[in-house]
Formats: sequence, structure tokens, C-alpha cells
Amino acid sequence: MIRLKNVERSYKNGAGQTWVLRRIELIIQEGEFVTIMGPSGAGKSSLLNVLALLDDQWAGEYWFKDDPVHEMKRKDRSEIAKRNMGMVFQSYHLLDDLTVQENIDLPLAYKDIPRSERQAMVAEALDHFQIVAKKDLYPSQLSGGQQQLVGVARAVIHKPALLLADEPTGNLHSSQAREIMELFSALNREGTTIVQVTHSEVNASYGTRTIQMRDGWIIGDTANPALAESGEAIRS
Ligand SMILES: Nc1ncnc2c1ncn2[C@@H]1O[C@H](COP(=O)(O)OP(=O)(O)O)[C@@H](O)[C@H]1O
Ligand SMILES: [Mg+2]
Repeated sequence: MIRLKNVERSYKNGAGQTWVLRRIELIIQEGEFVTIMGPSGAGKSSLLNVLALLDDQWAGEYWFKDDPVHEMKRKDRSEIAKRNMGMVFQSYHLLDDLTVQENIDLPLAYKDIPRSERQAMVAEALDHFQIVAKKDLYPSQLSGGQQQLVGVARAVIHKPALLLADEPTGNLHSSQAREIMELFSALNREGTTIVQVTHSEVNASYGTRTIQMRDGWIIGDTANPALAESGEAIRS
């Protein structure tokens, strides 16, 4: 589903450049449930933003379902993202001037789904995440945990082929976190490919593969045990 070849990302700063992604080589097959772990600042969110096609400022090659994303224009990239991807953001990224139910409906608006069907899907999602009573509130009227639930609901409502989740349970109680992870497992069993970022070993245990990042490098991958040694050789 995904193939990254030599993907790099840097930011300009006063003196020069700071590298946040270094020579990323990554293949993710359809149906995988991948966990990315690593210390703060390792580049996990940066990598997820590249995968989600939200970032245009990287170098290298990105193939999505055999299509060369690196050769595409912004408009075509966002079309691919809307049709195939759901993203849970670390800091929620809900739209402040839309209500809870309008936020959740957003991904459906990009697909040609009849209005009545959309309303039923949103109602079901509100019910599933136990936020029916919040449906007409705005994000600023919700707690962090409630906003996170709305963010998860919005990311999964259109049953995306690829679900990207950046610390999706960071603000939830452990029982809510477990429900989210069980939901992800169920989606994965139904065919959704998942890439999650987490600090939680419990959350990681729901996945089928763990990638370790540090200082912008992938330094470990349970699907590629040889990587750790070859990585040392490249970096030294
Ligand atoms: N907009 C930005 N401008 C400059 N540096 C940034 C920007 N966004 C992220 N970084 C830097 O990139 C590095 C990786 O960040 P990030 O991908 O958010 O790491 P993680 O999610 O693993 O904590 C950090 O050192 C961070 O300071
Ligand atoms: Mg992050």
C-alpha cells in the first residue's frame, strides 16, 4: 500500500537546517497494523504527516497503491488523502466553528453518500462514542478527552483504507483507550491498514509490527530485524 524511498524532511533555521526525517525506507503492506514508537522529537508526527499527505515539503519518493505521490500536484494528493485516509491528530485539529456532529460528518461530505445515509452514519458514530449529548456543542466546549473521541470518530467514520493515528489515546482514561484500541483492531480485521504513534506498550500490543524512531532515523523494525545493524553502518 505504501512505499517510501529515501524520504527526507528538514526545517530551515537561522543557522542552517534541522533534519527531522533521515533516509526513510519503509514498505507497509495492505492489512498491516503498524506502531511507531520513539522519544519525543524523534520525527514520529513528521512521518505521519508525510504519510497523510499533509506535508509537501519533503524529498524522496512516496508510492501510494503504486501511484507516485512525489510526482503529483497538491490537488491530486489531497484527493487521494480524502478518498483513502483517516487521520487522528495529536492535538485533535477539530474545526472550531463546526459542531461535533458537523466535524464528524466532514469526511462523508467528500464522498458521494446521500444525505439521509450520512445522517444515519453520524448518528451511529455519536452513539458508538457515547457523545450523543454533545452533538450540537462546539469543540471549545469539550474536554480534551471528548475532543479526542470526536477526532477518532471523524477519522474512522468513512471506513478509510488507511488509518493514521498520532497518539490517539493520549488524553483518554485507560478504559476509553482500550475501547479505541479494540475499535482499531476490529477495523484492522475488516481490512483497514493502520499506522499509529504511541508511547503505550499496551496500545502497541494491539499492532502487528513496531517501528522505532530516533533523531529522524528508523532504527528498528520488527518486520526487518536486520535493519538495526545496517542502520548503524549507514549512520556511522
Ligand atoms: N514546524 C517546525 N519547524 C521547525 N522544527 C520543527 C517543526 N515541526 C517539528 N519540528 C522539529 O522536528 C523534530 C521532530 O518533531 P516531531 O515529528 O513532532 O517529533 P515526535 O512526534 O516524534 O515528537 C523535532 O525536533 C521538532 O522540534
Ligand atoms: Mg509527535
